[in-house]
Amino acid sequence: MASYIIEGGRKLEGEVDISGAKNSALPIIAGTILNGGISKLYNVPNIHDTKMMFRILEELGCKVKKDKNKYIIDSSRLNSCDIPEDLMREMRSSVIIAGALIGKNRKACFSCPGGCDIGSRPIDLHLKAFKELGINISEDSGRIECSADNINGSKIRLDFPSVGATENIILSSVLAEGETTIINAAMEPEIVDLQNFLNRMGAKIAGAGSNVIVINGVKKLKDVSYNIIPDRIEAGTFLCMTAMNGGEVKLNNVISEHIEPVIQKLEDAGCKLNIIHNGIELKAPKRLRAVDIKTMPYPGFPTDMQSIFGTIMTVAKGTSIVIENIFENRFKYLDELSRMGAKYTIEGRTAIIKGVRKLNSANVRAKDLRGGISLVIAGMYANGKTKVDNIEYILRGYDNLDNKIRSLGGRIHLYNE
Ligand code: EPZ
Repeated sequence: MASYIIEGGRKLEGEVDISGAKNSALPIIAGTILNGGISKLYNVPNIHDTKMMFRILEELGCKVKKDKNKYIIDSSRLNSCDIPEDLMREMRSSVIIAGALIGKNRKACFSCPGGCDIGSRPIDLHLKAFKELGINISEDSGRIECSADNINGSKIRLDFPSVGATENIILSSVLAEGETTIINAAMEPEIVDLQNFLNRMGAKIAGAGSNVIVINGVKKLKDVSYNIIPDRIEAGTFLCMTAMNGGEVKLNNVISEHIEPVIQKLEDAGCKLNIIHNGIELKAPKRLRAVDIKTMPYPGFPTDMQSIFGTIMTVAKGTSIVIENIFENRFKYLDELSRMGAKYTIEGRTAIIKGVRKLNSANVRAKDLRGGISLVIAGMYANGKTKVDNIEYILRGYDNLDNKIRSLGGRIHLYNE
């Protein structure tokens, strides 16, 4: 079990390079199955979840090689459509590999991903869409088998703009017969990145970034090289980290329009932000002002930033209302923060956070990825030494985190028990 030991009370100064986007890399890695050839991916974040996705591709017969700053994937020897149960359970977002397998070989077998730390995370929208594409689905003791003679393009209206379901429909229909239209599609920047990657392979997709996406099936896809966009949630994380702890930082490799809602809320809270070419600068105020947030599908305030922003509001001047509209169980970080002196009440999907002047160091435990990084940020603020356990959750989504924090003047060390 690994932990971070963090010494609080230090302002942050300097600059940090933001890594490639986890939630872009994962569907794009799945998409490398589709060309049955070579894909060269640049700016892939070096995190647990991308390593897991590469491991699954290798289990399915693909060859994966890391060569300096790129990964080379050869999917020409794909020889299985059966996603290993243990790896599926380890990472629920691997369900998007199913879409790619169906798209390429008209067949996929995988386990129900099951819930995770932030909610039940069903895949009913994925399965409903597969059926509308003419895919036969059978389920037996937790394993789901999908198969189709042909995939016929169709018009699919999503009940909810699910990111994963949108990605799975795209992945399973790029090589289908005819045209597929997704209505009420997710509009996240990672969907646009997936479209751009697949179109670079020779797919014919249009509309990503809007709520209507049209995929015209093609016969074959070619080898590709592609550079993954920067991680907007990592950028938001470092902005909030500095906003709470004080100081002035510059982030490189940021597409600022991807985090406009977060920028707006940080300005409302008293931060000075300056958008520069391919980056962003933030100067923290002496003390943050309380502001309200409610999470929404993109382009609303991102759910992945909810726990991070809620954390910085625990020491703001005033009371903040945080409403979580996307996942049903994403306030667990507050239980841990109460051990450090945070004051809040929770009513259903609403947390009411009353800002306090200081937090005390404590032993706390990460329970999910974004809740975990939130505890690190709080530990950087609290007086004394805070120990954050179960940091495996955090290593799933943040590349080289402790070195980046130390480069800004923070005091954090990895501790393996
Ligand atoms: C993606 O998860 C991201 N993960 C999540 O980031 C992110 O929080 C989420 O999108 C929302 O932006 C990756 O991209 C790997 P959804 P995903 O399908 O695709 C419900 C992080 O911290 N739903 O948009 O699973 C679901 O339960 C992670 O980086 C159904 O009901 O999100 C949730 O309440 C966490 N049925 C809501 O929709 C379905 O079939 C949003 O889920 C699918 C989803």
